[in-house]
Amino acid sequence: MTVAQDVNDPNSIVVDRVLSEEISHIVEQNSDVLFTWDYRRSRPGLVKLYEKAKTSQWNASTDLPWDTEVDVEALADDLATSIQRFNQLREIPNSPLKNWGDKDWSRFAGEMQAWSLSQFLHGEQGALVCTGLITTTVPWIDAKYYASTQVMDEARHVEVFARYLEEKLQNRYEINPNLGNLLDDIISDGRWDITYLGMQIMVEGLALAAFGFMHMLTNEELLKKLLRYVMSDEARHVAFGVLSLQEFYKGLNAKEIRERQEFAFEAALRLRNRFFAQDVWERLGADPKKIVQFMQENQDPGEEIFQAMLFSKIVPNCKKLGILDAGDGWLRQKFGEIGIIQFEDWIDTTQEYASLDAVAQDLKAS
Ligand SMILES: [Fe+2]
Ligand SMILES: [Fe+2]
Repeated sequence: MTVAQDVNDPNSIVVDRVLSEEISHIVEQNSDVLFTWDYRRSRPGLVKLYEKAKTSQWNASTDLPWDTEVDVEALADDLATSIQRFNQLREIPNSPLKNWGDKDWSRFAGEMQAWSLSQFLHGEQGALVCTGLITTTVPWIDAKYYASTQVMDEARHVEVFARYLEEKLQNRYEINPNLGNLLDDIISDGRWDITYLGMQIMVEGLALAAFGFMHMLTNEELLKKLLRYVMSDEARHVAFGVLSLQEFYKGLNAKEIRERQEFAFEAALRLRNRFFAQDVWERLGADPKKIVQFMQENQDPGEEIFQAMLFSKIVPNCKKLGILDAGDGWLRQKFGEIGIIQFEDWIDTTQEYASLDAVAQDLKAS
């Protein structure tokens, strides 16, 4: 990846992605596959995480209330807060959407719901693929053990989001181009730690925050429980990334660290850019570049807070890895420029994951 010149240029935010009509997508991959003959359990943090994963498995078919009737309009209303940054398109007189009426805006809210859950679904498949890859590329036995439990977790996550979209919303989006391009970059990179940095730290760090918001906002019983259970797995996954990379990054030189900083920043930009939801505007017949341009010109810091909060897990985890301040503090400066550095001292996920274990809590309660 190369770091974009102007991070607010609509032409770098609304991007193309070549997707044919076929149902599979091919990414070239040339990682070394590593066996290890050192079977000693030498990483206590990963051993503990692996034990936790074994006792916190759940069954997507039987542990969630799939017979719940879902009111799709009420669901979209619950989540209005999460899309309020788009209100400026409705309220400012020269908006490119000035001709939209209430009906158009209601449809937009419902589409955003389906779009968000669809991106969760595709991101989960990305996690499934990346973690399968990590089982083969990571050199440590404790990490291979842990990653194998995450593969099962991710299969369950793909299963629940696919089923929810299919049975309850009956609406689905393709993968967003920014998210798709990011996943391609993560998967095609042959360095095993980049798979972790891209997936466990960046994509899953953002997902953990995004699931948390949706869980907080929704009153829909099935979705609420589904998210609570997925988050409890997700917190372990992010902790897995932090524990593994913390050790590995201590041994890298300045140039290698700088490459990781650049990768993390480019990933953060793509994650931010996907939330302009270009695919929703396209489906509703609006021009995404005009929308992005208008939003950039009429930024309301008050309404951007929710967006920035999505990075509230990523930034403290990057700090814990040492890549925020390594070298000349390049990543600190870049995160400052895109308005997310204020989260650096929030709780990091290695401190937090045990408290999010919903499966253990429910078992204890029963
Ligand atoms: Fe997941
Ligand atoms: Fe995950």
